[in-house]
Amino acid sequence: MANDVVAQAPGRVNLIGDHTDYNDGFVLPMALPFKTVISASPRADNEVHLISPGYGTAVFSLIDDPSTVDSWARYVAAMAHLLAHEGIETNGFDASIATDIPIGAGLSSSAALEVAAGYAIAGLTGIEPDPVSIARLGQRVENEFIGIQSGIMDQLISAGAGAGGPTLIDCRSLALTPTELPHAAQVIIMDTMTRRELTTSAYDDRRHSCERAAAALGLSRLRDATLADLDRISDLEDRHRAHHVVAENQRVLDGVTALGANDLEAFGSTMRASHSSLRDLYEVSAPSLDAMVMIADAQPGCFGARMTGGGFAGCAVALVKRDAVTDFLRNVELGYLSETGIAPDLWAVDPSPGASVTFGGGLS
Ligand code: GLA
Repeated sequence: MANDVVAQAPGRVNLIGDHTDYNDGFVLPMALPFKTVISASPRADNEVHLISPGYGTAVFSLIDDPSTVDSWARYVAAMAHLLAHEGIETNGFDASIATDIPIGAGLSSSAALEVAAGYAIAGLTGIEPDPVSIARLGQRVENEFIGIQSGIMDQLISAGAGAGGPTLIDCRSLALTPTELPHAAQVIIMDTMTRRELTTSAYDDRRHSCERAAAALGLSRLRDATLADLDRISDLEDRHRAHHVVAENQRVLDGVTALGANDLEAFGSTMRASHSSLRDLYEVSAPSLDAMVMIADAQPGCFGARMTGGGFAGCAVALVKRDAVTDFLRNVELGYLSETGIAPDLWAVDPSPGASVTFGGGLS
């Protein structure tokens, strides 16, 4: 019989490169110190019993169609189902799930749940899976069982982050390149406390725009487009979306170069340009995100700030001089409160490692 296992997978914040992943482009996310931890032990039957202080409880059978499993437990059921199709089959299991990732804030709590479930379930069969395989399955959980046509960034950084800094991901080759964040810089996540489900059609609309724009250029993905190509996209809205994607890919690469040269001002400029582009060309920002970014950017010691992730609500991110962080946090809290009447959540976070599984318990 299999051992008990404990698997963990972190949430993420993306420093630059949004809405590029599903265009086969570049992203620069980092894993967060916030994570989802699953402790699982095998059962003799096919049932899965889940208990979680944050999510609640759920019971289902591994022979159920995952689409019939309700809400959050569907992520686990779908991951088990897809793993079984890959030949990684388990008996049922009992699992407790704890998370300190703010749910619905755009910090990839669902990707972390998928990835942690993947590591735990594979772990029950004695396998430590490779990050890219689990990330691909996590993306399929979203696409096929949750109904969100998301890219692979969230799952891939949760599964494969290096410990020391943000990771450059080439979303075409799925190559992960670790980068380093100079010690003088601190990443701050700023939660606007506004929420919007990604299931709304806006995300899919943006994807379809990109697909149409690529097709107009005779390309399969906008990754291969250049700024000079854009004039050939006759639909104005599609051209704007494509402009964002092409320029954002270059900003990711420029940002990585800036980090390598310890040029935090240059990195901050790419963050500012990214925000303007997401607001004006891609149109996925929101008044709350714009207010937060404007307030953050006006603070001494702020290299740059931008919305992060899918957009419309949730979190913004800023890069701030380490010795200015205390004042930054106080001023942004007060500034956002007086501008919107909402008290934000702010976190100073360091890059953290990706998912792992620990094999425990005795053989029986
Ligand atoms: C969401 C999706 C990702 C990515 C971002 C935008 O987080 O899950 O795949 O597309 O939006 O960069």
